[in-house]
Amino acid sequence: MKTDYQPIEWLGDRVRILDQTMLPQKEVYLELDDYRKVAAAIKDMKVRGAPIIGIAGAYGVALGALKIKSTARGDYLKQLQKVSDAIASTRPTARNLFFALERMKKAAKGKNPEEIKKALVAEAIKIHQEEAEATRRLSELGAKLLKDGWTVLTHCNTGPLATSGYGTALGVIIAAHKQGKKIKVLADETRPLLQGARLTAWELKKAGVPVTLITDSMAGYFMRGGKVNCVITGADRIAANGDTANKIGTYTLAVLAKENKIPFYIAAPVSTIDTSIRSGKQIPIEERKAEEVTHLLGRRITPAGVSAANPAFDVTPHQYITAIITDKGIIKEPYLEGIKKLK
Ligand code: MRU
Repeated sequence: MKTDYQPIEWLGDRVRILDQTMLPQKEVYLELDDYRKVAAAIKDMKVRGAPIIGIAGAYGVALGALKIKSTARGDYLKQLQKVSDAIASTRPTARNLFFALERMKKAAKGKNPEEIKKALVAEAIKIHQEEAEATRRLSELGAKLLKDGWTVLTHCNTGPLATSGYGTALGVIIAAHKQGKKIKVLADETRPLLQGARLTAWELKKAGVPVTLITDSMAGYFMRGGKVNCVITGADRIAANGDTANKIGTYTLAVLAKENKIPFYIAAPVSTIDTSIRSGKQIPIEERKAEEVTHLLGRRITPAGVSAANPAFDVTPHQYITAIITDKGIIKEPYLEGIKKLK
């Protein structure tokens, strides 16, 4: 999607990212010239959202590969593995990161160091282009599900910032808006890091889609009051049976949607699907530091010494999901079969 901001860009010998921790107050671009800086930017969520984490990870490996001096193939590959491991250790839940790292590993196979450098830069650029295109396709497919005049509730941030493309859930919403449908959005603020309040509100405002911010705990009130026509969220990892990990709070929304007979949609590129695991029980859930909960924008909001839990994602069992919108089609129960056909 054409936006006046560029979430991630490859500059030949460095990668430029829009620092998402500074938004919406400041648009700050960072130029990262070392894979360790890319790894840190992913870990600190300067660049965040499942698809863009994969893209950033691929560029990180390409950067690392370019800097390895060794010309002996065995030694070169050993050092390259270290680079890949450092990127892999940043955030465990989003499948897209590991999807990208696996592709980068395959691209290096059977080549000598000089060939590997070229191949890895080319593969990272390809991953970026393909992921952006996948979100364009799924946004167009998903937009058909949204009816003129609907109010859509969404969670976290799933727009161009999170994907470097159209977006997943937000891509679907923006595509429907572009088709001329009058869509309104209720955006959850998304505690603890406020991706909804800071990033989704910012992106929807720029796209000209009417948005009303709510706190996460207001969702049930609006659903029960008949103010929500459907819920759409993105995904960080989808198991073979359709169980879906997404930002903490998504499961609560899915249960509330079912209780109130509101459709609950997941939007994600096929690269988010992990057929190597059968159910959501096997999805690793990232636990982030307690300070993200005990502090707000750098200021402590709890008495000193209070402990806090901070799981960054939860898993929504497939029974709660009305449909999964992907770039290769929209699937419904039985997900096990639908997913097999997509892959
Ligand atoms: O912790 P984050 O901000 O990286 O989590 C992002 C989400 O959970 C998004 O909903 C997910 O990546 C959806 S796809 C853009």
